[in-house]
Amino acid sequence: MGSRVLSPCLLLLGVWVCALPAGSVLPPELSKAEVTGLFKDFMIQFNRTYRSPAEQRRRFGIFKQSLLAARRLQETELGTGQYGVTRFSDWTDEEFRGMFQSPPPRTMHQEAWRPRKKLPKSCDWRKAGAVTAVRDQVGRNCRSCWAFAAVANIESLWYIHFRQPRNLSVQEVLDCSWCGAGCKGGYVWDAFTTVLHQRGLTSEAAYPYTGRQEKCQQHDPTAYIQGFQTLPRDEEEIAAHVATKGPITVTLNSAAMKNYKKGISQPLVKNCSPDQVDHVALLVGYGDVKRRQYWVIKNSWGKDWEEKGYYRLYRGSNACGITTFPLTATVHRVGAPGHEVHCPP
Ligand SMILES: *[C@@H]1O[C@H](CO)[C@@H](O)[C@H](O)[C@H]1NC(C)=O
Ligand SMILES: *[C@@H]1O[C@H](CO)[C@@H](O)[C@H](O)[C@H]1NC(C)=O
Repeated sequence: MGSRVLSPCLLLLGVWVCALPAGSVLPPELSKAEVTGLFKDFMIQFNRTYRSPAEQRRRFGIFKQSLLAARRLQETELGTGQYGVTRFSDWTDEEFRGMFQSPPPRTMHQEAWRPRKKLPKSCDWRKAGAVTAVRDQVGRNCRSCWAFAAVANIESLWYIHFRQPRNLSVQEVLDCSWCGAGCKGGYVWDAFTTVLHQRGLTSEAAYPYTGRQEKCQQHDPTAYIQGFQTLPRDEEEIAAHVATKGPITVTLNSAAMKNYKKGISQPLVKNCSPDQVDHVALLVGYGDVKRRQYWVIKNSWGKDWEEKGYYRLYRGSNACGITTFPLTATVHRVGAPGHEVHCPP
């Protein structure tokens, strides 16, 4: 790196990795005609047209790869997760990962450990009306999940503290980002730093999402934050925070999400390494089904992505690296710092 100043942004961009899976084999149990039939159904369901026969053949090859990956996940699934054809089935892993970011630094201070209180059995902020509609970061070229997750976090906290619904501008975060990475992938802490620097965020209506990084504009803010904090990397501590303060952002490995259909996803560690986090989303609650504990995660791939835009992931074993970097903005009502709120079960 020579004498270049090592800003945290530069350090992070160096960590970016994108790998393509090797090999191209048909799933043994499906005949070629069956796979072709599945692909035709997929093209109709997800409204696909390809610009040339060659491109269609290429996408068909990728589709077969995705079927294989889904089968692998299904065969080794430890939870109740179901995998299959999704709207991402004709995307390469590289395109898929291209929507995301690389891992953030772990240098920021962590909130001091506090003795555990009794943890509510379940929590779902959606039931309090504190979670805005699932959005769609769309396109294959904008790695903006970090901005969506940070904005969703602020929207939820704003509602919880002020009872005012807000749709805030993701585009403002992208355009005005302090690291300037925009669609190249960014970091949640940079999103919060940007919001602090902008003295708040304006509304989505005033500054709508375009999916491209553009010139930073100034608008009047309609919500603001006091700061942000990292949380302890402990799933009980995280749950306690979510139950008593509100949704938080989490960084995780998206490997099992490309083919996810429904259920509580619990992939083998080797299929979803906790050391390879590449995506950011909003943790909005937790619960359990027949003693199988799970997290509820709001994603930013639209409402049509499985479970109406949400993902349920096994809770209790750092599945897919979910505890890697829990981070949240802080929003206080003036005169009532840190007041506790209660999440509906
Ligand atoms: C399907 O795709 C075409 C061309 O991309 C578009 O014009 C049309 O609106 C799409 N239809 C649906 C239902 O999404
Ligand atoms: C936020 O956006 C959703 C979905 O587009 C809309 O239904 C809702 O009314 C908006 N809320 C506000 C406060 O603008």
